[in-house]
Amino acid sequence: MKRKIALLLVTVLGSAGIAAAADAAATWAANCASCHAKDGSGNTMMGKKLGVKDYTKDQSFSDAEATNAIKNGKDKMKGFGSKLSDADIKALVAYVRSLKK
Ligand code: HEC
Repeated sequence: MKRKIALLLVTVLGSAGIAAAADAAATWAANCASCHAKDGSGNTMMGKKLGVKDYTKDQSFSDAEATNAIKNGKDKMKGFGSKLSDADIKALVAYVRSLKK
């Protein structure tokens, strides 16, 4: 029984990093994927209409530019600064980077 609890603790603590990534994935799916697509390719109706770039191939923006775009908006993309915390935005930038193949 004790062993089981210890194991459970290890699992919970060990997955904290993964949980943050999963959060960013969920935020992305809920707020960004309608334009940028789940995989970041921009292959959606909205994405094509607005000229969203394919982030699986090209990420010419810096972390600071990405942060600024997410916070304050860029072109037809509105800012999410009022909706997302700085930590959320930071996690999203890292998530976007992970979408590049
Ligand atoms: C209404 C459609 C739309 C939504 C929703 C949207 N974007 Fe964008 N996004 C755009 C457009 C249009 C651009 C400008 C063209 C480009 O760079 O692909 C852009 C640009 C970007 C850039 C590049 C910034 C730069 O300086 O080049 C990043 C990073 C980005 N979006 C991330 C996100 C994230 C993260 C979310 C969700 C929180 C999101 N976008 C939601 C349409 C959208």
